[in-house]
Amino acid sequence: MSALDTIRASVATELEAYEAFVERQFTAEGELLSEMLQYALSSRGKGIRPLLVILSASLNASVKGAAAGRRTCLAAMLVEMIHVASLIHDDVIDESDTRRGRPSINARWQSHKSVILGDYILARNMSIGLQSGQFDLVSHICGAMAALCEGEVEQSDCADKRRMTRDLYTDIIYKKTACLLGVSASAGALAVSATRDRVASMRRFGEALGMAFQIQDDILDFRTQTHTGKPACNDLREGKITLPLLAVLERVDENRRAELLERLACCHDDETSVEYLQSLVTNEGGLDEAGRIMQEYIARAIGLLAEYDDSVYRKALIDLCRFVAERDL
Ligand code: FPP
Ligand code: MG
Repeated sequence: MSALDTIRASVATELEAYEAFVERQFTAEGELLSEMLQYALSSRGKGIRPLLVILSASLNASVKGAAAGRRTCLAAMLVEMIHVASLIHDDVIDESDTRRGRPSINARWQSHKSVILGDYILARNMSIGLQSGQFDLVSHICGAMAALCEGEVEQSDCADKRRMTRDLYTDIIYKKTACLLGVSASAGALAVSATRDRVASMRRFGEALGMAFQIQDDILDFRTQTHTGKPACNDLREGKITLPLLAVLERVDENRRAELLERLACCHDDETSVEYLQSLVTNEGGLDEAGRIMQEYIARAIGLLAEYDDSVYRKALIDLCRFVAERDL
């Protein structure tokens, strides 16, 4: 059993109820839209966000009731669908042909249909959320949606200008990843009527975990793919300066920095530049430095769980933090 499977096992019943809830609620009108939606929902990845909602709800629940169970499923679905829609749009923006080892929606149905599917998922999500009458939950979710868009635009602007600072990087990864993980953890607590303090504390926990999650993603992007033997390095090809490269750029003088940024500008269609920067980042300690900062966020997240009594759910959340730090996929 993988580390993630063990974590999932602690809330197996709740996850089953959640899957059934999504199947019942998230349907589409029309044959093509249904087929596309089905395709999008049939490969949803690791499911970290709904898992976080459910674990947080379980950790914060004083009593387990049917209404709290329904609210938890709803919160988990709302956050997961935002993630699903954002990746559909992201693959259009990045012109990516594959997602999780199979053709992306844009590769299979073209970009314009992809954009509409993403919009449809967001519209259905909001409609289901509003119909539930859980306006505080929906309002948190809307804040995370806006943050995702802001992060994406800032990231793209920085890539165009080949510019990055620590502050900008921190702001971008907060908006593109940590905010939604923070909302996921706090939504779980909200669903079981936890105190305001606990909801806020869960939000900080999810945000710290989310920062670590994105930094680890950025580290993993520099790894050589086992199936091709070539570096993944999609961020370099897209001109993105993430923490591992930034850590190196900060240490060199102005001339060398200009030279490396020139190299980055070539990465879009020059594999020699990609491999050059990948080796540089690996050999000059960029990955180690990013790993160290990622571990600081993990330690912060685990520290925030100290106010909770020991339980199977607290342990599962600590294990989730360790999984995020150690994952290689
Ligand atoms: C994946 O990043 C993408 C995101 C985390 C967010 C994308 C957000 C948008 C496209 C804005 C639209 C927002 C909504 C709410 C629909 P990545 O390209 O670094 O990762 P990848 O390697 O998985 O593609
Ligand atoms: Mg992408």
